[in-house]
Amino acid sequence: MSTQPFIPPKRILMGPGPSNVHPRVLQAMARPTIGHLDPQFIKLMDEIKELLRYTFQTKNELTFPVSGPGSVGMEACLVNLVEPGMKVIVCINGVFGGRMKDIVERCGANAIVVEAPWGEAISTNKLEETLKKNSDTKLVSFVHAETSTGALSDAKTLVEIAHKYNCLTIVDTVTSLGGVPVKVDEWNIDAVYSGSQKCLSCPPGLSPVSFNEKAIEFIKNRKHKVQSWFMDINLVISYWGSAAKRSYHHTAPINALYGLHEALLLLKEEGIENSWKRHKENNEKFIEGLKSLGLGIFVKEGQRLPELATVKVPDGVNDAQVRSRLLNEFNIEIGAGLGILAGKIWRIGLMGYTSNEGNINACLSALKQILNN
Ligand SMILES: Cc1ncc(COP(=O)(O)O)c(C=O)c1O
Repeated sequence: MSTQPFIPPKRILMGPGPSNVHPRVLQAMARPTIGHLDPQFIKLMDEIKELLRYTFQTKNELTFPVSGPGSVGMEACLVNLVEPGMKVIVCINGVFGGRMKDIVERCGANAIVVEAPWGEAISTNKLEETLKKNSDTKLVSFVHAETSTGALSDAKTLVEIAHKYNCLTIVDTVTSLGGVPVKVDEWNIDAVYSGSQKCLSCPPGLSPVSFNEKAIEFIKNRKHKVQSWFMDINLVISYWGSAAKRSYHHTAPINALYGLHEALLLLKEEGIENSWKRHKENNEKFIEGLKSLGLGIFVKEGQRLPELATVKVPDGVNDAQVRSRLLNEFNIEIGAGLGILAGKIWRIGLMGYTSNEGNINACLSALKQILNN
């Protein structure tokens, strides 16, 4: 058994997440732990809620980070807004839509799937056709930025259509938040969740969520108890809600929240519009560079995620070998394809703190050297 402290290697994290963490976030996380009900900590919680409202572009009172990774945020939204026997439309154009369907079915609901080919955005027409045929649907859920394929869907229009048919909406913004516009109030999203480890430049483990009044009203009037004690919003609210006196629900990950606070401050200092612009411009430079190496881009123009390029593995090139050479010789991590795209694409992220010119040049130059010999 080792008796040495673990010192991680210095990597450039250009996979589908986590991205590199800003040093200020790491420093914040190393500060002394205080109690999760200390008045100074409650003050920090209020600041985090306010900064998250800015990040999500919302005034929703119930905006806070769930203690857990993005999948817990996903589950928290679904278990609160899905009741047994309910009809739910789940849009699937990659791995994470599939995960939503699994959770919906575990809630005892009837999941109707609107499917799009992997690598394409969800079709707004197809959603509308499915809603017409299933007028008793109560909820529509979809992934804004599908990290398994690199496709960006039109969240604003999908939500608009869902509301036309009186459905609530849940939007996964794990990869989109901070990297592309996510406008919760303007787009009228009812429930939204994200993750700390992508465009927010924070370590994994926290999932910012936000619920509007309509979603809260649904949760308060549920016929069945939320089947998860930990994620039941009616209970979590005692700790993260607006009451002057907060009470114990679970022991919050205190130092992780120091980190999120610092990451959100950094985003506020940069200005969220500037962050969206930086991701877009860096992606354009990167795509140009990839093309000049003769590499093909998997997603068609207009539907590409600025924070994640999906690149076709050229014929005759060993996908795993290229990734392991990038890691071992250049300290650059990129992601493999998932599911049906395994071995066919690379997923190269330019998310949050990772999205800068130095990393673009380092990755292009390393790929050039590896592909040439
Ligand atoms: C779009 C999307 N949704 C959900 C998740 C799940 O997040 P986590 O891995 O933090 O549980 C991810 C993770 O990559 C994701 O990309």
